[in-house]
Amino acid sequence: MPDFDKQSYWHQRFESETAFEWLIPSTTFMPILDAFLEKLPESDANILHLGFGTSDLQTHLRTRGFDNITNVDYEPLAIERGRHLEKAAFGDVKMRYITADATHLDAVSDISFQKYHLVIDKSTADAISCAGDDAVLAMAQGIHRSLADGGVWISVSYSAFRYDIPQLPFDVEVISKIPTAKARATDPDIYHYCYLLRPKPKA
Ligand SMILES: C[S@@+](CC[C@H](N)C(=O)[O-])C[C@H]1O[C@@H](n2cnc3c(N)ncnc32)[C@H](O)[C@@H]1O
Repeated sequence: MPDFDKQSYWHQRFESETAFEWLIPSTTFMPILDAFLEKLPESDANILHLGFGTSDLQTHLRTRGFDNITNVDYEPLAIERGRHLEKAAFGDVKMRYITADATHLDAVSDISFQKYHLVIDKSTADAISCAGDDAVLAMAQGIHRSLADGGVWISVSYSAFRYDIPQLPFDVEVISKIPTAKARATDPDIYHYCYLLRPKPKA
């Protein structure tokens, strides 16, 4: 299995990859997110998008009216791709792009001084989980500290067990099970999971 938790893996991959969607396309994800986006004031909503890679999700969010978005990836080539994609789509760059490790969000002053109404990751926790549950827990703890009152984390994963971590500071709910494509009708049902993570009260 590739080293999905290693930056070197993503650096090598993004040298040639300019656009790729893990698990589900943004056109599938946006209708799920919409129930949460519609509760947020477009101008004020502070959104954190972790591990955006070469996805176009952030341009869908901006099209929907949100541009106070901080897109984070630890691979600088993703930052380059993201800025380029936004400029090509809108003619300017309004969103923020930060090179940072999602398992050490506290170390990033641009993030640790902010409070987010919505944190989104699509398969970033999956990549991080290759370093073990402690790495996912570190990501979760950083998100927990960064959330505004009433803020939530929405995460898409291939795993039905992604957040079965005893010390996780979130209440976890599956809000959508997205069926994967079958090569044959007789293939087993396989799903991707969209999680809603609500912070447990801070100790
Ligand atoms: C499986 S890809 C998902 C990319 C994108 N969200 C999508 O759905 O297509 C995982 C992404 O997370 C990034 N990543 C992995 N570990 C990270 C970490 N510790 N901190 C920040 N980004 C990380 C990788 O560089 C990659 O862009």
